[in-house]
Amino acid sequence: MIRSTLSKFQKAFFSLPSSSKDLIRTLDFSRGINSMRRLERKIVLITGASAGIGEACAKEFAAAGSNLILTARRVDRLERLKSDLSKKYPQVRIHTLQLDVRDKTNVDKLVPGLPSEFKEVDILVNNAGLVIGLDKINDVTDDAIDTMIDTNVKGLIYVTRAILPGMKERQRGHIINIGSVSGTQVYPGGGIYCASKHAVNAISRTLLLELVDTPIRVTEINPGMVETEFSIVRFKGDKEKAGKVYQGFNPLTGEDIAETIIFAASRPDHVNIAGMFLQEIII
Ligand SMILES: NC(=O)c1ccc[n+]([C@@H]2O[C@H](COP(=O)([O-])OP(=O)(O)OC[C@H]3O[C@@H](n4cnc5c(N)ncnc54)[C@H](OP(=O)(O)O)[C@@H]3O)[C@@H](O)[C@H]2O)c1
Repeated sequence: MIRSTLSKFQKAFFSLPSSSKDLIRTLDFSRGINSMRRLERKIVLITGASAGIGEACAKEFAAAGSNLILTARRVDRLERLKSDLSKKYPQVRIHTLQLDVRDKTNVDKLVPGLPSEFKEVDILVNNAGLVIGLDKINDVTDDAIDTMIDTNVKGLIYVTRAILPGMKERQRGHIINIGSVSGTQVYPGGGIYCASKHAVNAISRTLLLELVDTPIRVTEINPGMVETEFSIVRFKGDKEKAGKVYQGFNPLTGEDIAETIIFAASRPDHVNIAGMFLQEIII
């Protein structure tokens, strides 16, 4: 009976025009939608949600029905994003918060200051990060060293330490760190940034081991070249110079990375995707 129904369905499917078949394939009722349901009403805190990968994550998690805590320094951008997402997904609750991850005092006040319905963070996306310049180790300024290490390493540690105790208490949670291919590779002029992402790699792998006997998951996502505001920040607002970085490449997009993060976050509770590397295609 089941077999004959399936065979009728298959015949009907194959007689459809190819455009309809493609549409049905993209809908993927069997697995995709069910796994997205796992993210409904989860509370997701994203650092650096005002641009690039963080902003793309906010859009993808909202589409999956998660409630969001969006943080960054540029709060005007967060407010705009909140307003767009609230119109599109009225059921999704969104809280915005100005937060410089380098500011330990403010990071420590993060959880106590959240409205009660946002306090129990289920998923932390440690995304805030940046690179400054392309100077060799001998030439890089003290200020650039401090900014990269304070943001990419110490900021990630501060936010993790603010959120993890609650996850331990509730015995549930997922920490997703945005590392980089620069967490395992190096290049001339990238010494400090690479050192900071090597540190993210070490922290992620250590956390994974320290939490292996708990239900709390730890994932490190390691992108290659992603076309965001990253290179604009690197070259202090010089868009022309930033654009040249991607010439001759087919770079990844923030959305590509966000989709992967959503995939990792929406696995069943017992599946911990420890790490993933995403590489751009060179054309
Ligand atoms: N783009 C790439 O090629 C690439 C590759 C590998 C890994 N990554 C990593 O991906 C993450 C996101 O970068 P992106 O490419 O999306 O760059 P982006 O477009 O420049 O976005 C960076 C985000 O980080 C935030 N941020 C920077 N400093 C911060 C601070 N002190 N406190 C709080 N937020 C801060 C920025 O927000 P505000 O300025 O508003 O604070 C912004 O929202 C970073 O960790 C980066 O290292 C990027």
